Amino acid sequence: MSVASLGYVGFEVSDLKAWDSFMTGFLGLMPGRGNGASARYRMDERAFRIHLDQGKADDISFIGLEVETWDGMRALRQRLDSEGVKYAPASDNLKAERGVRDLVVLTDPAGLQVEIYVGATALTNLPFTSPAGVSGFLTGDQGLGHVVLATDRIDEVRDFYTRLLGFKLSDTIGMAISPDFTLLLEFFHCNPRHHTLALAPMPAPKRLNHFMVEMAAFDDVGFAMDRMEKLGVKQTATLGKHSNDQMVSFYAVTPSGFDVEVGTAGIAVNDEVWRVTHHEVTSMWGHKRSH
Ligand SMILES: [Fe+2]
Repeated sequence: MSVASLGYVGFEVSDLKAWDSFMTGFLGLMPGRGNGASARYRMDERAFRIHLDQGKADDISFIGLEVETWDGMRALRQRLDSEGVKYAPASDNLKAERGVRDLVVLTDPAGLQVEIYVGATALTNLPFTSPAGVSGFLTGDQGLGHVVLATDRIDEVRDFYTRLLGFKLSDTIGMAISPDFTLLLEFFHCNPRHHTLALAPMPAPKRLNHFMVEMAAFDDVGFAMDRMEKLGVKQTATLGKHSNDQMVSFYAVTPSGFDVEVGTAGIAVNDEVWRVTHHEVTSMWGHKRSH
């Protein structure tokens, strides 16, 4: 039994106010219901896709992985039991806060909180509208986007997400850092999105290298670039096209210091015909570092 998608993500951020204008004014996400110490943002009909807690970490604090059905949730619990993996059934409070019907909490080998759930709240009665005029985000069965995590325990982390939770390798990229050092990035899918998770085998001050949101149209990305300039958001990589998922995107720095990738037109993976390949560069063109 595999998880189906990245349903939500949580960040612990020191400046909720700066994040609020970044999320709504720049990225065009819609405010959802939060409370004083947290804020939540919508990308679609779901009650939230990104959750922000006030705190010092300025890093990713949890990921929510969605299971499609109650039967799937039961099967996943059995799998965790049979593998002897420790997990905690969520309290009623946590389930209510996340707006899900069932939820278990575990920790990945790098220490990140992983929440596996079923039955997320869909607010079809309160349709998504972007405050910045984004025509839409590509979510649905592809989940909210992707996260790229840095880890110095890649073998254990890979094993956790693949063997235990069912992620599959899409491809790898050798990223030349210097003439004699190449970093091998690994990209994993759990639905047609080319990668929901990527792992960079390196120690880093933050767990999260970047997260990606996929907009519905090229114009949405162009308008976001204009807003970036107007709002004084710092670009970290120019417009470019990735070698593996073909995403056309640019990167900007969030108020917490990690990046967001704003993209469109990524390819979908069909497991029937997909072949794992290797790429020697991260991008076909563009994505020049801006600093
Ligand atoms: Fe990315």
